[in-house]
Amino acid sequence: MSTELKSQLLNSGNLPSHVAIIMDGNGRWAVRQGKRRVMGHKAGVEMVRESVKLASELKLGALTLFAFSSENWRRPAEEVSVLMELFFTVLSREVKRLNRNNVKLQVIGDTCRFSDRLRNKIAKAEELTANNTGLVLSIAANYGGRWDITQACQQLATKVADGQMAASDITEELINQHTCTAQLPELDLMIRSGGDCRISNFLLWQSAYTELYFTDTLWPDFNEAEFLTALAKFADVERRFGCTSEQVSS
Ligand code: IPE
Ligand code: IPE
Ligand code: MG
Repeated sequence: MSTELKSQLLNSGNLPSHVAIIMDGNGRWAVRQGKRRVMGHKAGVEMVRESVKLASELKLGALTLFAFSSENWRRPAEEVSVLMELFFTVLSREVKRLNRNNVKLQVIGDTCRFSDRLRNKIAKAEELTANNTGLVLSIAANYGGRWDITQACQQLATKVADGQMAASDITEELINQHTCTAQLPELDLMIRSGGDCRISNFLLWQSAYTELYFTDTLWPDFNEAEFLTALAKFADVERRFGCTSEQVSS
């Protein structure tokens, strides 16, 4: 079934250029099985791998995954430290495979708060894959949508203060160019697993006209078939961007 759906989607020409995923529900998945929450994060890595594989196969331009929000520091210290360690191990283990598959990896978010060891690992992974021309995989880590907009404003305010531009020169396009996703295509589709229908401070600026897909499936149980269902729903939707149905269908 999925091979057929994949070729249908490829032929439809209606695939999104940029998909973002809020990978939620790891903790509940583990607790339901009588395991510790962190086991859910470990189990979720397999679905990260599968999602990247499918996105590459379908030649999507960009996949952005929410791995750790700027609010996730509020969690118990032990969970935070397991998440940091997991990030390090997964980067070490996966980067060669990503590189072989022509994936360009980047981490978006305020990485200042990470250890030097993790930051070096990130820098090496980004450097190794920098010239790849396939899928752009962005991992959002210590990322917050409000932080992203704030840091873009700070960069622009600095330019105004330095006399490089006037405040009235600031446009939506210019703000966009200073966000973390400036180099990526418009965000077409955002998927959230885990049953909650909220954005949790993810790509706020970028999601102005994004299609949203929420599923009750917990992240470790998410699978290729469900990703394809979300893509098929996206392919069917009429995106009007403020116009009328008649205007966009003509
Ligand atoms: C998402 O799963 C992963 C991170 C936030 C790092 P959760 O850990 O939020 O899982 P639930 O929502 O508690 O089940
Ligand atoms: C959002 O999930 C962040 C990630 C998936 C990394 P959360 O589990 O942190 O979201 P809230 O706090 O329930 O909204
Ligand atoms: Mg959660």
